[in-house]
Amino acid sequence: MATSGSKCRACKAPAVIDLPRHNANFCADHFLQLCRRQVDKAIDDYDMFDRSDRLLVAVSGGKDSLAIWDLLVEAGYQADGFYVGLGIGDYSDESRAYVERFAASRSLHLVTVDLRDDYGYDVPTAARAAKRKPCSACGLSKRHLFDRAAREGGYDVVVTGHNLDDEAAVLLGNVLRWDIEYLARQLPVLPAANGFPKKAKPLVRLTERETAAWCLLRGIDYLVEECPMSSGNRHLHHKNTLNAIEQASPSSKSAFYLNFIDKMAPLLASQSAAASGDVHDCEQCGSPTTTELCAFCRLVDTASAHEPVPVELVLGRRGRR
Ligand code: FES
Ligand code: ZN
Ligand code: ZN
Repeated sequence: MATSGSKCRACKAPAVIDLPRHNANFCADHFLQLCRRQVDKAIDDYDMFDRSDRLLVAVSGGKDSLAIWDLLVEAGYQADGFYVGLGIGDYSDESRAYVERFAASRSLHLVTVDLRDDYGYDVPTAARAAKRKPCSACGLSKRHLFDRAAREGGYDVVVTGHNLDDEAAVLLGNVLRWDIEYLARQLPVLPAANGFPKKAKPLVRLTERETAAWCLLRGIDYLVEECPMSSGNRHLHHKNTLNAIEQASPSSKSAFYLNFIDKMAPLLASQSAAASGDVHDCEQCGSPTTTELCAFCRLVDTASAHEPVPVELVLGRRGRR
């Protein structure tokens, strides 16, 4: 990862990674220290949580979610994991195995939900039945289940592993459309509101290359494969675009995102649409909603009544687009 012969900026030992955006190389110890500092800074700067809070970390088996779970536990936070089985063929089976191995290796508490076993549907079926994109059916299901697990388990904050690349790509998408409402809500921390728990993204100061390196150096085995349903996802194009800019002009990506948070987001705060309508309990599941049945319960009703759709069928259709 580092050019041979390069030295750590802090201790002059041989470097294991070069970070052009910091204009420096680091040895393993100093790189890990830098990651810890970046996470500490995000937690402090954005007032995410403290050690008295109970955290529920959404884990997928990928590098980011396992890295943040590891970082938080190492730093002494009370952090349990939460995994949702999405029923996306082998990808889901493997992702679950990675999460379970990680939790077992560190004796951590893992809460799991399985869409097929617990709610009678999976993401490919939900996508077909509700005529949604798979990522949209998946996102709706995961958001609902994280919120619900946090509420029912008495957790103070839901933590996700979104990194700098994820957030900068979403920001670029929102800017390209000047989607003010989304821009106003694109924050590293969202306070608890209307029965929804507080949400925090402590990895926003680390890139995905850095979280991958964290896992490598900490011996964390993670699922490298991306979700097969996410191919063609426009965020991937935005990430590639930003990587090209970053290569030509190191630190542009972090400046783009972090300066947005510091300088622009406060100006947009008044644009954040308060939940319109009356928030009350969903008749079926008790979650906060502005309609009779929440969007998740409507999805469950539609998707669980549909015959199971094999993942290949949804992928085949996407491939022909
Ligand atoms: Fe949700 Fe891929 S992880 S659709
Ligand atoms: Zn060093
Ligand atoms: Zn509901």
